Amino acid sequence: MGKAFDIGLERLARGSVGGGTTRSGEFAERPASEGHRYTDLNESAQTFYLETFGCQMNEHDSEKVAGVLLARGYRQVESADAAKVVLYNTCSIREKAAQKVFSRLGEYRVTQREGQTIGVLGCVAQQEGEKIFSRAPWVSLVCGSASYRKLPELLAQLEAGNRRVTGLDTDTDETFETEVTRRDNPWRAYLTIIEGCDKACSYCVVPFTRGPERSRTSASILEEVRQLADAGYTEVQLLGQTVNSYADPSARKMRFSELLVAVAEVPGIRRVRFTTSHPRDFGKDIVEAIEAVPAICEHVHLPVQSGSTKVLRGMARTYTREEYLEKIAMLRAAKREISLTTDLIVGFPGETEKDFQETLSLLDVAQYDGAFCFKYSPRPNTPSLKMADAIPEEEKSRRLAILLEKQREIQRARNEKLVGRELEVMVEGKSKKEFQWSGHTSSNKVMNFTSRAQESLGDYVQVKVVGATPNSLVGEKSERRVESRQLTVVS
Ligand code: 5AD
Ligand code: SF4
Repeated sequence: MGKAFDIGLERLARGSVGGGTTRSGEFAERPASEGHRYTDLNESAQTFYLETFGCQMNEHDSEKVAGVLLARGYRQVESADAAKVVLYNTCSIREKAAQKVFSRLGEYRVTQREGQTIGVLGCVAQQEGEKIFSRAPWVSLVCGSASYRKLPELLAQLEAGNRRVTGLDTDTDETFETEVTRRDNPWRAYLTIIEGCDKACSYCVVPFTRGPERSRTSASILEEVRQLADAGYTEVQLLGQTVNSYADPSARKMRFSELLVAVAEVPGIRRVRFTTSHPRDFGKDIVEAIEAVPAICEHVHLPVQSGSTKVLRGMARTYTREEYLEKIAMLRAAKREISLTTDLIVGFPGETEKDFQETLSLLDVAQYDGAFCFKYSPRPNTPSLKMADAIPEEEKSRRLAILLEKQREIQRARNEKLVGRELEVMVEGKSKKEFQWSGHTSSNKVMNFTSRAQESLGDYVQVKVVGATPNSLVGEKSERRVESRQLTVVS
């Protein structure tokens, strides 16, 4: 998948405090009303360095983990060398990602200083557990995401001189909520509304590494969104491995589509995004919410994984090709034009050339605006590990290349159709080239545009599309003023 749909993968500057949330200080165009910086609080405090790999959920978990450490008086530093505690938030979704962890731990062994503590968090921590101590005896902390709420206790044990501490429990009905979250982007805030996954796709480690589905109460989500809006955030991205399987645990029993509307109605919030949706739980009510409320962004990420019903059955995806295509038809029939992205896996065990051709033909029908495409990677503990008819690596590579090329042409054609249109863009970056800016549209497309005005990062502007590539749009700022969709509070 190209940069056009980097679902918030960008990492921005680090910085200052605002209520229960800390925000970047680098984007100085907007007055920093949030008060002092944590980094100035206590020069002699314990220091930590936190490196994150993997998905947006991991990125956001790291924001919360950093919040826990900051609240304990730790100070965040930019290099492992300068830190007392080095934390590595890991990903094990595919083998390559997991391998990276052990090579990075090998590097730490060489550079580790006297008295420095090294911790492994996230999916590899959960998957490998205490085995990490034998593979990398210089590690002191191993903690999976389902145990993050125990972090203060684990840190206290480390501070008390314990050599090895673990948090590896996945049998939980609690979510990880923090008093302070150290957010990296000053306008777009991520917010996990459902943790874990109950879907048990046969190839996937997530149900093992993140535990069962647990949703936050709608009241606590909405309270946090109000705080975010007060702190100046205008975009909220609701996160979950299967975000639309959200099940409000409170008596209110708010449906996911109702939650979307309620978040969008918080004064100051101009854009609401959500990812990732599971096709099984994707109903008409979500489309109706997008149709009715302009602040809910016109973009849905709906992973299909394969276009073949036979392969989908092997993957335990719980829908057929036809059922998935019905969801697509419902989205395409919406009153607002909704951009659609997906995830695809090639080379699942037993995937024949005919099955692969069905995935290609599904692309023709679905006309995705973006797709993350992966080669199947066998993972520990997963049911598909033992399935017959493994596809050779070269054949997976061949299928992946064909898939990427086809999707690229679809994206080029779809983006070209937007030439001449005027779209709203949140200004997120300034290019080194004079008068060049970039941002995202409501449909989550990257727009690189020209404007002779001194734009303010975080503002919303109208941009006319004058060109297109497969991964981005090229635009010129229109002189027309943007009508505020909602009250915009920027302090
Ligand atoms: N091999 C390849 N891709 C995988 N994904 C999940 N598990 C695997 C695996 N074992 C992909 C799926 C999922 C995305 C986050 O990662 O497409 O939607
Ligand atoms: Fe993994 Fe399937 Fe859950 Fe997605 S829905 S996290 S692919 S088990």
